Amino acid sequence: MYGLTIEAGLADLKGRYDLYGPIHKGLRRAQGEMLTRLGTADFADPAALGTLGELRRLLELGAAHIGHEETHVHATIARAEANRVDLLERQHESHRETHVRLEALIRAIEQAAPAERPSLGRRLYLVFGVHIAHDLLHMFEEETVAAPTLWATQTDTQIAGMEHAIISSLPPEKNMAFLSLMIPAVNRDERFALLSGVKAGAPKEAFNVVMEVIARPNLSREDFSDLNERLNRAEMQTV
Ligand SMILES: [Fe+2]
Ligand SMILES: [Fe+2]
Repeated sequence: MYGLTIEAGLADLKGRYDLYGPIHKGLRRAQGEMLTRLGTADFADPAALGTLGELRRLLELGAAHIGHEETHVHATIARAEANRVDLLERQHESHRETHVRLEALIRAIEQAAPAERPSLGRRLYLVFGVHIAHDLLHMFEEETVAAPTLWATQTDTQIAGMEHAIISSLPPEKNMAFLSLMIPAVNRDERFALLSGVKAGAPKEAFNVVMEVIARPNLSREDFSDLNERLNRAEMQTV
């Protein structure tokens, strides 16, 4: 299911709309950090329960992400190459099964006596690690096989339209949660493009919240200044 096609060569972006790139960078970063935290957690200590709550929220975002792809992207890929979507949806199904297993482990730790938590925590660490391994391979498939199918059959405006449909379908707090994954995970050019889109599409107050509550605390001083200056420069050029 997770066979790779690296030998077939990696398609370069060549300036095309990168639907998968920023959200996948966000998921890779957040999942990698979470794995490190689970690896260092002292599960006998009640403080570890806070980490479990954050893991649960991260899994919810991952589950929402695969739902968004199925609702807003897969039909277009299927029209071009039906078997591509079959593979992606089998991988999604495997993710859903792992999500159920992870949620059961989280609940077991929450309900266990302190002395029983470390061995359950080790299980959680191992299962979450293998979940990330599968997700890395799945995202590789999407960015090297599904994305080129989109580029071959859709204009950038059409691909951006799929992303817009996803954003429009979400309540503000979910969009904020996804932005908090993406903003610290992407490079400066991608971050400027992402925030330019937010600035153009969201109310001014919401944009200010994204800048002050998500971007500023999660970026280095230099990265935040770079972002702010680029956005200001772009605004001056449009005036
Ligand atoms: Fe996916
Ligand atoms: Fe994905």
